[in-house]
This record gives sequence, structure tokens and C-alpha cells, in this order.
Amino acid sequence: MKKSARAAIVLAAGKGTRMKSGLSKVLHEANGKPLAWYPVRRALELRCDPVVVVVGHQGDEVRARLEALFPGAPLKFAVQKEQKGTAHAVLAARRTLAGYEGRVLILSGDVPLLTGETMRTLTQAGRKNPVAFLSMRPADPTGYGRVVRDERGRVGAIVEHKDASAEQRAIGECNAGLYDCDAAFLWKALKGVGTANAQGEYYLTDLVAAAARTGKPAVAVEAKVEEVSGVNDRVELAAAAQVLRRRLAERWMREGVTMLDPVSTYIDEEVELGADVTLEPNVRLVGATRIGAGSRIGFGSVIEASTVGASVTVKPYSVFEDAVVGDRAQIGPFARLRPGTVLAEEVHIGNFVETKKTTMGRGSKANHLAYVGDATVGARCNIGAGTITCNYDGVNKLPTVLGDGVFIGSDTQLVAPVTVGDGAYVGAGSTVVKDVPAGALALSRAEQVVKEGWVERRKAGQGRAKGRKTAQPRKAANRRTRRS
Ligand code: UD1
Ligand code: CA
Repeated sequence: MKKSARAAIVLAAGKGTRMKSGLSKVLHEANGKPLAWYPVRRALELRCDPVVVVVGHQGDEVRARLEALFPGAPLKFAVQKEQKGTAHAVLAARRTLAGYEGRVLILSGDVPLLTGETMRTLTQAGRKNPVAFLSMRPADPTGYGRVVRDERGRVGAIVEHKDASAEQRAIGECNAGLYDCDAAFLWKALKGVGTANAQGEYYLTDLVAAAARTGKPAVAVEAKVEEVSGVNDRVELAAAAQVLRRRLAERWMREGVTMLDPVSTYIDEEVELGADVTLEPNVRLVGATRIGAGSRIGFGSVIEASTVGASVTVKPYSVFEDAVVGDRAQIGPFARLRPGTVLAEEVHIGNFVETKKTTMGRGSKANHLAYVGDATVGARCNIGAGTITCNYDGVNKLPTVLGDGVFIGSDTQLVAPVTVGDGAYVGAGSTVVKDVPAGALALSRAEQVVKEGWVERRKAGQGRAKGRKTAQPRKAANRRTRRS
């Protein structure tokens, strides 16, 4: 096995009964990521190699999800078939870590709020001791393991609430359930852990008493309760998500981003924002999205896996997915940029315009009610209102190519495959089925017919018909019509 200074074990086998869910607890999402993502990310940040996730309930699903979210990471999975306690869970990872010497970080899959700073403090505190762990002082310690110290203040043991005496239950310092220990010590100590306790479980916390017996007692590092709280039900899940969102919002505001309403703004972890970006309320930025300096994202817009340049204006209710938008472009309101959209600088996309697998050159515009799909559009084109690329023949998707400076009149259908050359014009209402050479005008609509006085004649005709209906019997009316 590769030599790295630290490996990690993430405990994620529990079912999470209080979630009352068909989904494993660690797959429930907080701010767009499953709970287990958070501790795994922390372990990877500390360059833990490998990171062994102990799974049980819905193990295959947990594994698939994490592998997809951390491609190429040194993730491993160990199965704990029956949940017989936290020590039993750690032992499930033993074989995966066979031959590994170094430190082992043990994290809980349902603790998403741990900060990198606290993790670094924990790993540094434990360097000279067999075990370091995080402690906390919750307002109500009921249910937690208590940190029992001797008269000199050294940590002697962690005693679970159910096993604790009245005197021990009065201790406010509790075990947060996150450890950093020496691998050799860990496996040796776990051999001695039994189930002679109130819950009949293998307690990982017995490590701490084992460390005291070696004469090198465990080190407790106190953490903020907020950071180490586990998620047990959906109320706590929502509260954790809120904290995650607030942290990200604060981070970006400190980096120079304006948020008109941080509480209603959703930003995924991987998002990157430039200085002087303004996010209006109800904006949602998903996945690896980047917004360049000085851009403004309008109310209710959802931008996923997209790159938006600098000084771009996105007006309200626009939706992007896998799109690239150049500097100073103007998009929306109500624009939809679908995957494969690549817009150069200063492109304008207006209301109810949909683009898909389409590139548009600098300064081109489609301002109203259009569908532009599988298209290559040059620079400075004007695509009129209601233009449709007919890109699908029922079997294949076919390309439309517009040169530079093309003018497409309103309500035009471009039946692909078709090419319109540089500077060409297409008259409004045309159905373009053949290529249009550069500089040409294409028109395909029927010749206009004008019938002078037609409206008057029609109205007069209708007046007679109406009079007949009310005043005369049906047969007579028919006769009259035939005669006229
Ligand atoms: C544990 C600690 C307790 C601490 C508390 C903090 C023990 C014996 N006690 O209590 O001192 O105050 O955490 O929250 O460790 N898990 C498995 N397999 C199992 C059992 C648990 O994977 O067989 C996982 C759970 O999914 C969870 C984590 O281990 O992610 C902690 O388990 P949990 O049952 O919540 O531990 P507690 O009994 O609450
Ligand atoms: Ca718990």
C-alpha cells in the first residue's frame, strides 16, 4: 500500500431511522450535496489516502454517488453488514487498510458542518498521542458520551450517556465522535473492545480509555457545537443546509460579491464568482458554474454548469445549462440556454429564446421568441422574432449555418441542413429549404393578394344573412342564397 501520512474512515453505515426515509441518511442532500460528501471532502483536503467509507444501508447507492462526485479520488468502500456499534464499524474498514501505518482519521458521515480549520487543529493536536478527538459542550448533553477526566485533568475515558452515573451525567464536556489516531494503536485497542455495556454494542469510545492505560491519554480538542452536530432528522438537515448556505454566502460577499438577499440565494460549493458580481434574490447557481467580474444575475435565474463572462447582464428568470456566455452579453428575461450553447462577446438573447448546441459570434442577436438549435451563427447576425431552426427530421439532428452579418426576417423557418452565406438576407415569413449564397436575398413566402373593398362586401353579405335568419323561415333563406 502507498505510504501516506494519514488515512481516513468515514462511518456511514447507519440507516438514520429518524429521517423516516427510504433513502439512506447520508444520501440526503444539504445545499446540493449528499451529507456524506462533506466529511469525505474534508478527508481529501487533508490528503488522506485512502479514504475508506464504511457503508451498510444502501451501500451500493452511497458508493455510486460518492464515486461520481469524487472522480479519481482515493476512495474505498468497506461494508458493515450489521450495525453493531461504532467500533464494529471501524473494524469493517480494517482489511481495506491492511498494512497501512500512519494516522487514521475517523469521521461521521452525518456531520456536514466541520470546517477545514477544526480538522487541521485536530490532526495537529494528536501528533504525539495515540488518540485525539473532538469534544463539545452542547446546551443539552443528554444522549452524548461524556468526557471523564482525572484529578489532573487528563482524559481517562468517554462514558456513554446510557452507561453514565448521575455524577458523570453532570459533565458538560461531550464526545463529538470524530477522532484522529495512530493506526497500530487503533487496531490493537479495538481487539480489546467488547459489548459489556448498556447498549450491548462495540463502542469506539473505548479507545480513549485504552489510550489512558498506555500512559499517553487522549487529547480532546473542543469544537463549536454547531460544527460537530450530526444530522438525525429532516429538521436538522434543513438547519445544516441553512448554515452551509450562509457560510458560502458570507465567503462570497467577503470576496466582493453583492447579494441582494443571501438567504434566498443558492450557491453550490464548486461555484466561482468574480468581484462585483451581483446576485439578485432567488438565484440558484449549480455545479461548476463560473460568473465573471461585474456580471449581474437577475431574479429567479438558475445557472448550472455554465461559464458566464465579465460584465454580462442576465435578466430575471433565465435558465442556463452547460452554456458559455461571453463578456458583455445580455441574456433574458426568460431565456433558456441549453447544453452546448456557446455565445461570444456582446451577444443578445432575449425573452422566450431557446438555444441548444449553438455557437453565436460576437454581437449577434436573437431578441424574441426563437429556437436556435444545432446552429453555427457568425458575428453580427440578427435573428428575427419567431425564427425557428427546424433541426430535427424525425431521425437525425441537422445543422444550420449562418455566416457573418446575416439578417433573418421574423417568423422564418430554417429547415436544416441549410447554410445562409455572409451578409445574406432572408425575408420575413420565409421557409428556407435551400442554401442562400452570400449577399443574396431569399424569400419563400406566397405572393400577397389584395382585394380592394373586400371587407365592406363581406360585411354587407353577413348583414343580409343575419336578417334572413331571424326574419324568414329556413327554406326561403336557402333559396335566396342559391339565386344570388
Ligand atoms: C456516538 C458516540 C458518542 C458521541 C456521539 C456523538 C459511540 C459509542 N458513541 O454516539 O460518545 O457523543 O457519537 O454524536 O461511539 N455507525 C455505523 N455503524 C454502526 C454504528 C454507527 O456506521 O454500527 C455510524 C453511524 O451511521 C454514524 C456514526 O457511526 O454516522 C455514529 O453513530 P451513532 O449511532 O450516531 O453514535 P451514537 O451512539 O450517537
Ligand atoms: Ca448519534
